[in-house]
Amino acid sequence: MAKLKFQTPTGMHDILPEDQLYYQKVFDTAKKLFDYYGYSRIETPILESTDLFVRSVGENTDIVEKEMYSFKTKGGDMVVLRPEGTAPVMRAYFQNGMVSMPQPVKLWYYGPFFRYERPQAGRYRQFHQFGAEVIGDSDPLFDMQTIVILYNILEDLKIKNLIVRINSIGDETCRGEYKKALSKFLRNKKNDLCRDCQKRSKTNILRVLDCKEPKCREIISQAPQTMDYLCESCKNHLKEVLEYLEELKIPYILDPFLVRGLDYYTKTVFEVETQDNEGGRQESLAGGGRYDILGKAIAGEAVPACGMAVGVERIVQKMRDNNVDVSTKRSAEVFLAQIGPIAKKRGMVIMEEFRRANMKVAECFNKDSLKYQLAKANKLGINNVVIIGQKEAIQNIAIIRNMETGKQSEIPQEDIVKEIKKRIKEEN
Ligand code: HAM
Repeated sequence: MAKLKFQTPTGMHDILPEDQLYYQKVFDTAKKLFDYYGYSRIETPILESTDLFVRSVGENTDIVEKEMYSFKTKGGDMVVLRPEGTAPVMRAYFQNGMVSMPQPVKLWYYGPFFRYERPQAGRYRQFHQFGAEVIGDSDPLFDMQTIVILYNILEDLKIKNLIVRINSIGDETCRGEYKKALSKFLRNKKNDLCRDCQKRSKTNILRVLDCKEPKCREIISQAPQTMDYLCESCKNHLKEVLEYLEELKIPYILDPFLVRGLDYYTKTVFEVETQDNEGGRQESLAGGGRYDILGKAIAGEAVPACGMAVGVERIVQKMRDNNVDVSTKRSAEVFLAQIGPIAKKRGMVIMEEFRRANMKVAECFNKDSLKYQLAKANKLGINNVVIIGQKEAIQNIAIIRNMETGKQSEIPQEDIVKEIKKRIKEEN
């Protein structure tokens, strides 16, 4: 076929009927666990003010520098297709007066996000995330619970060999000292860093630690570690989170070079991946952390908070790789066969009666051949077939055929649902 003139934009994809079962399973599993842990669902707009992300995610991050779908509206406002969910949820928290609700406020979300990235496996320009934020409490228990919920959802989705990478990047008190030490360490190595890192070492030095380039990784492996520069409070916070994780038997690796690509984090940062890759690090399935300074950036009021987000496309790919069973289809209990236009109309009415009785019906309203329809019922393994032809439609009756015995009987149309229910009960 010739290339179609209109295709999805680069890095974006249709979620087809055969994909929907996976997406639905991810949504349902996430919802079930968030309900259990007392989270309420929130939806924020797809468009937000560009400045919200510049202030929160950070001016010198990849997301803000390179990846935002930002544009001017007809009214002259700069808006952006949201690249992530944490800043919008924090905005909503302040805007909707959640500050005066009992704290912490626990919120979860699901929806599309947009980043103008170079598309590759597991990396899209429109993708879905579900995520959760706990706003208003600084207790390390919530860092732990965020990780536990995330881990449990992925386990329920049958994602195997999960491992949590975790680190602490300190807070405003201790991070400065660490940055100074890192800057000193990199001073005479700058020429050996990749071009991006040469720039990062001036604008956002922590991001050098996150670089995937082999030559930078080699230098970084010798760099000072955030952990050695944590103040007493940050050190204790990390220690408590790790103790909780051990208590709950969540497998983790302490990764001293994990910093994450967003500026709002303080203390705990983590990512989740699977360990089944053959060598090297793979794309993370999920990420998150504590972000006690985000409230200040957005509303001028510091509020302790932590959260996480999961990349749905990456999870769906893992579920496919693991042949996870996603079928939820309830099989039909009765087949409705019709012959001719009057019977078809009557069939529609009877279908509604079955729906009201919460019974699932199979049909082939686009086919008039009885032979075809009976073969279809047979193929679906449905034993009771309701047949309505021209004569039956006029006389307000229906034929019920037992496919196993071939026996047919006539009944008044108003008794169809009752009769089928009775037969199914007798059969079981
Ligand atoms: P993030 O690490 O940027 O964190 O994204 C979270 C997850 O979204 C990633 O681990 C990945 O699975 C998925 N993801 C990100 N970019 C793409 C992409 N281009 N294509 C496909 N999947 C992608 C955040 O977004 C933070 N808001 C998480 C958070 C919540 N931190 C605290 N609370």
